[in-house]
Amino acid sequence: MAEWHDVVTSRTQTERDAQARSEPAQRDHERRMVAEHYENDPEIFSLVLDSRLTYSTGIFERADDSLEVAQDRKMRRIARLLDIQPGERVFDAGCGWGSVMLDLAEHTGGRFQGVTLSARQREVLLARARDKGVADRVEVDLMHIDDAQLAPESLDAVVFSGSIVHMHDRAGVYGRVARALKPGGRLLVSDCCFPRVPRGNTESAATHYIFVTALGYCRLLSLSEELGVIEGAGLDVLHTQDLTSSYALTLERWIDNVRTHRAQIEARAPGFARVLQAYMTVARLSFAKRTALEYLVLAAKGRARIGEIPDAALGARS
Ligand SMILES: C[S@@+](CC[C@H](N)C(=O)[O-])C[C@H]1O[C@@H](n2cnc3c(N)ncnc32)[C@H](O)[C@@H]1O
Repeated sequence: MAEWHDVVTSRTQTERDAQARSEPAQRDHERRMVAEHYENDPEIFSLVLDSRLTYSTGIFERADDSLEVAQDRKMRRIARLLDIQPGERVFDAGCGWGSVMLDLAEHTGGRFQGVTLSARQREVLLARARDKGVADRVEVDLMHIDDAQLAPESLDAVVFSGSIVHMHDRAGVYGRVARALKPGGRLLVSDCCFPRVPRGNTESAATHYIFVTALGYCRLLSLSEELGVIEGAGLDVLHTQDLTSSYALTLERWIDNVRTHRAQIEARAPGFARVLQAYMTVARLSFAKRTALEYLVLAAKGRARIGEIPDAALGARS
């Protein structure tokens, strides 16, 4: 029988290079290459992102929504889909500066464990957790997700917001978190995909610039492949939502902020404003033309408790 990683297409040379490495070598590659971007001065990201430091798409309902409104809507949607109850355990895989974790910690009585590859993100997250008075329910480890000790059936929910594309071994990662979920546990993924039938050149210099030069390592699957690996890990897909237009608008707001604060960014990291503007501009165009797509996916291990009437809770509007 074919393994899941055999039926996922490698669309770029970077992925084929990853495929040729041993698993430990690829893990080290991701640790080093991906961390570099997120180790930049957090002040820079606070000039570009919303007040929660969300480094993933917001949800726009109107083209003139502010970034803050769109990111607030995203958080409310995640909270509604995950429906975290007091004492429930949530694992944030690729937690960044804590956008999702800290919002859920403030609005629910859950307990949170995150991992990031960036020591500076960890420091910022822990400081923000203390400021918000939720530090006793929030833990963050500086580690690759493969090194996280996840006991079988110990988690109620797992979140990957803008992080799964940095992880080459999708079958391994989803398999591990699926085993760690309790029966009824929920998995939420918010990230980018390629269309199943390529539109444009996935090996272009512009794609390489985003995937390697700017962000270190990225692997985009098609939605059907991503869902296939999630199902292959034994989870049921409950819901998907297309957020491609929302990501184009999110990137438009980030680019405006880079332009506005260019001098301050350059003073902190010479050359970094140009990297941000270049990769965000290519990404925005890709989402605007739908040569890249953005989805929110909710899956569960067996029968999930999502509100009293799951179908209503899953309705696309926030
Ligand atoms: C684009 S940021 C998203 C941050 C946050 N989830 C959000 O939505 O604001 C990607 C995050 O994933 C983390 N990450 C990427 N690959 C990882 C890995 N293999 N193990 C742990 N964290 C990882 C990075 O360190 C970074 O914090």
